[in-house]
Amino acid sequence: MDLKRQPIGIFDSGVGGLTVAHAIKQLMPGESIVYFGDTAHLPYGDKSAELICQYSEKIVEFLLGQNAKMILIACNSASASAYDYLQKKFGKDTIILDVISPVIEYVSSRNFKKIGVIGTKRTIASGVYEKMIALKSPETKVVSLATPLFVPMIEEGFIFDDISNQIIRAYLSNQLFEGIEALILGCTHYPIIRNQISKFFDFRVEIIDSSRVVSSVVRDILQKNNIQNDSRLVNDRFLVSDYTEYFRKIARLFFEKEINLEKTDIWS
Ligand code: DGL
Repeated sequence: MDLKRQPIGIFDSGVGGLTVAHAIKQLMPGESIVYFGDTAHLPYGDKSAELICQYSEKIVEFLLGQNAKMILIACNSASASAYDYLQKKFGKDTIILDVISPVIEYVSSRNFKKIGVIGTKRTIASGVYEKMIALKSPETKVVSLATPLFVPMIEEGFIFDDISNQIIRAYLSNQLFEGIEALILGCTHYPIIRNQISKFFDFRVEIIDSSRVVSSVVRDILQKNNIQNDSRLVNDRFLVSDYTEYFRKIARLFFEKEINLEKTDIWS
């Protein structure tokens, strides 16, 4: 089978990873994607690392069964908890990329003095950003804060209003963030409120949106391995482990257009 024509396999706990899928399609419209959102088990942000590894392993097996030519973990919580595990398990046979390492590379190219990270409880508790930045850019001070209300807030459509502004202010006015030069959006939902966050900091703080950074790394990987596809015959599939009208509605918000979510049971 021609590897070039095979889809990029992307997964997330739900539909938040569609922000990454969208960035990939913007940059590489000739690539097909097969997306799996584990809506039956979300949120991952409150789960244990062990359980996230278990779910992620099964999803990767499924995506490889769909002929994915590479796997992208489009979820920070799964990247923080399961990337090393998945790399050990599948890294010999396929390319696995997470949404955190490309951001660490980007940060190391910028020589920041102080940066902030926000994400789910799972991602922040893992300390993965601090650890990886300390290895690559020891001169950069990292401060981080779990901002768990952002996910339900965004999903409930509180995005450009007083409620979202108050919640953003409540978290980000934390003294921790005083003097930061950049803020990493360590959750695939957060690009939706990127502009409001930027505005909160009076546009003086660089907002690092992993979906943008990651999509250009995916393009580089495909080119380096000579498996990029420029076909006009794209076939994108969006699969979810549980389907409701609500997921359809919010998928539209994250992917910026209507998509067809197919319910697929990979657990039984
Ligand atoms: N997609 C998850 C992340 O990027 C957020 C939603 C969840 O907690 O499952 O961390």
